Amino acid sequence: MSSRYQTILLANSQETQRVGKILGQILPANTTILLEGDLGAGKTTLIQGIGQGLGISEMIVSPTFTLINEYKEGRLPLYHLDLYRLQSEEVESIHPEIYWEGIEVTPGITAIEWAQRLTYKPSNYLNIKLNHHLPKGRQLQWQTIGENQFELSLLKNFS
Ligand SMILES: Nc1ncnc2c1ncn2[C@@H]1O[C@H](COP(=O)(O)OP(=O)(O)OP(=O)(O)O)[C@@H](O)[C@H]1O
Ligand SMILES: [Mg+2]
Repeated sequence: MSSRYQTILLANSQETQRVGKILGQILPANTTILLEGDLGAGKTTLIQGIGQGLGISEMIVSPTFTLINEYKEGRLPLYHLDLYRLQSEEVESIHPEIYWEGIEVTPGITAIEWAQRLTYKPSNYLNIKLNHHLPKGRQLQWQTIGENQFELSLLKNFS
């Protein structure tokens, strides 16, 4: 089951952060967010907002060398993965399902940049596509996949 794509426009990085903050405030444990989109489209910015919404004060930066950053001080743990530099075999070797299954780790929010590199996906997730929107700003498209439909009507206020 999947919902239709909803599209919102984000005029500047503060708006991207604000959408992330709303998500961080309302999303339940065991939520996976798969992020796709252009280089520099705002994926990390959105995740910084999610961190803010969860109540994480630590600075969120992309996990370049570590591949996964874990933040545990908020309402729920945040697991931030960035697959940009990885080949499919390397993606599989980090076992991303550990995070979205939440069996070996405390269930939290798993946010994955460059999710198109995944060779398998969770059964429920929030799909977010961010792209440049000319002349400025970004277009954000979101869709829920699977049985757990998220109540994200708050985001419609942005369109
Ligand atoms: N809605 C927006 N309008 C204009 N600029 C934005 C918007 N959202 C984010 N930005 C800016 O875009 C730049 C790139 O953002 P960010 O690093 O979050 O992108 P990214 O998608 O994570 O990039 P990468 O593909 O390298 O991982 C930053 O300077 C950020 O402030
Ligand atoms: Mg990034």
